[in-house]
Amino acid sequence: MAVRTILHYPEPLLKKVSAPVSEFDAALKQLAQDMAETMYDAPGVGLAAPQVGELTRLIVIDCSGKDNPADLIVAVNPEIVEKEGESYEEEGCLSVPEYYAPVKRFERVTMNYQDLDGNPQRRQAEGLLAVAIQHEIDHLQGILFVDHLSPLKRSIFRKKYQKLMQQRDEA
Ligand code: NI
Repeated sequence: MAVRTILHYPEPLLKKVSAPVSEFDAALKQLAQDMAETMYDAPGVGLAAPQVGELTRLIVIDCSGKDNPADLIVAVNPEIVEKEGESYEEEGCLSVPEYYAPVKRFERVTMNYQDLDGNPQRRQAEGLLAVAIQHEIDHLQGILFVDHLSPLKRSIFRKKYQKLMQQRDEA
């Protein structure tokens, strides 16, 4: 197992569309394990394969919080098949450090996916978990949460983020 390096915006690979998984082999299981370890180490509540440089349709999520037992979801080829309601909650992303903004999402979703052995699975979710599912599946399409901001907010984001990263480099 290994904690992998998380790519940061504006890394071009984060804008690419990931390929479906067709082989449920040891390499896939290893990648899933590395991603879970990387997510817990960060710490974060979700991670998508492109964030560690793999253009593969694989996401890991754990929204259980530190006071509850772990509830790790490993979803291969995830797809939202039902959605309803609306939410507007603040989001962050391990690939966009130190920046948070509210994003419009569905309040409830149903996700179809495959487990690491290729068996079909389904998960209904609401609240934070529903948001995390939408956020992570977006990554597989090359979409970051800041892409959902209005043009004005996005230009403010770019300026703020540039400053933040400069301060980081200087520190
Ligand atoms: Ni993210």
